[in-house]
Amino acid sequence: MRALAGLWVLGLFAWGHCFVEEQDGTLHPRAGLTPEPRSPATSQPHLIFILADDQGFRDVGYHGSEIRTPTLDRLAAEGVKLENYYVQPICTPSRSQFITGKYQIHTGLQHSVIRPTQPNCLPLDDATLPQKLKEAGYATHMVGKWHLGFYRTECLPTRRGFDSFFGSLLGSGDYYTHYKCDSPGVCGYDLHENDRAAWGHGGGAYSTQMYTQRVQRILASHDPGKPLFLYIAYQAVHSPLQAPGRYLEHYTSIANARRRRYAAMLSCLDEAVANVTLALKAHGFYDNSVIVYSSDNGGQPAAGGSNWPLRGRKGTYWEGGVRAVGFVHSPLLRRRGTVCRELVHITDWYPTLLALAAGRPDEGARLDGYDVWEALSEGQRSPRVDILHNIDPVYARAAHGSWAAGHGIWDTAVQSAIRVRHWKLLTGNPGAGDWVPPQAFSSLGPSRWHTAVNAGRSPPGATLQAAALSVHVQSRPACVRVTGTP
Ligand SMILES: *[C@@H]1O[C@H](CO)[C@@H](O)[C@H](O)[C@H]1NC(C)=O
Repeated sequence: MRALAGLWVLGLFAWGHCFVEEQDGTLHPRAGLTPEPRSPATSQPHLIFILADDQGFRDVGYHGSEIRTPTLDRLAAEGVKLENYYVQPICTPSRSQFITGKYQIHTGLQHSVIRPTQPNCLPLDDATLPQKLKEAGYATHMVGKWHLGFYRTECLPTRRGFDSFFGSLLGSGDYYTHYKCDSPGVCGYDLHENDRAAWGHGGGAYSTQMYTQRVQRILASHDPGKPLFLYIAYQAVHSPLQAPGRYLEHYTSIANARRRRYAAMLSCLDEAVANVTLALKAHGFYDNSVIVYSSDNGGQPAAGGSNWPLRGRKGTYWEGGVRAVGFVHSPLLRRRGTVCRELVHITDWYPTLLALAAGRPDEGARLDGYDVWEALSEGQRSPRVDILHNIDPVYARAAHGSWAAGHGIWDTAVQSAIRVRHWKLLTGNPGAGDWVPPQAFSSLGPSRWHTAVNAGRSPPGATLQAAALSVHVQSRPACVRVTGTP
């Protein structure tokens, strides 16, 4: 046992083919196919990628949330819900993987986010998804949060493949003033249009509504006969917890003030997605579109989010940090109204969307993503059987790990996480591993169920309790704590 100090192993959901969700909630394999869509003006579909910020796994109506998300629920129910879908535990990493199709160990962005004062950005030699889509003939527009570096002009979204950009280069600024403070007194205006500050543009507008209006303007001015890639990276529902008053009115029954504001922000986001969808229909894009919706990482309970029943939170490699809300909605899906339990990861969008666009990755690009369209659209097996969640050699070493503990093959003090089929291996310190129950009715903020106990020093019951709890989380009670606390 000592030899494995620092290694944790746990079982995960069983996975399988895609199923059709019936009205009564039971799942049946889908027999027939839905009719072919109308023939579109361009054979290349319009690609709309909507990324939410910090939306927790539970924070969508169809995962049992008390927060109302009727639009997300409907779009997901009519499309394909991704129920074995993974992202990275924080902002920059997820965004970098989406836009390059590569794990962070292949872009040098393994450690944390790009900080405001850090002279770093997405490597310039990786061809980005919008660059490849442009080559395939697409118009490419980005609205919202970039967070992939800006210390040189070459790093800006308009130099990395987007025809236009309107949004913030960092994250977590004020939703109305669009100022972002890095530390007390170190503040800057973070609303940009193309490669310049968008002075006077914000004018006190709430970012979720402001970004939606920009999307509506793009759709109104673009010819639906030409293929369009639209990357909409909303600031919501990341802190600071700010929401227009009228969305708060629905949630007076939620006692926890942070959860209440978060709920209001999410309802506003849901309405924004409704408005985007309406605009796609009104301007003739919808029939030939693929809409992907994804959160960028797990929720932050201290800022109103919930990942229940998953363990852990944003910033951790536990399921609650990396398993995300995600779905695809499109008239072009062969089988709609399905739930896909195949393994899908955020790197997979690059090759998947590029293939839909009849584009091709660069020769020798060595992507980590897979084209998963047949798994999504037709219920085939996903080509993906593993995910390297990350290896972060810079993160603080775990006290109990060593090369010896890893049999000379691996230094178990290093923070890393990998999933292979039903198994997940965590080494080093994976982050806070407690369960945070739904917090809607507590005025005291989130409570926690601590399970992070040192198996060597605590009664075995503590570990067993964790295994019992995991029955809710995982279809098999296979949460095995081998030994050691990171
Ligand atoms: C959605 O559109 C309606 C009607 O134009 C508008 O009142 C509302 O503010 C919009 N909501 C968002 C979040 O954009």
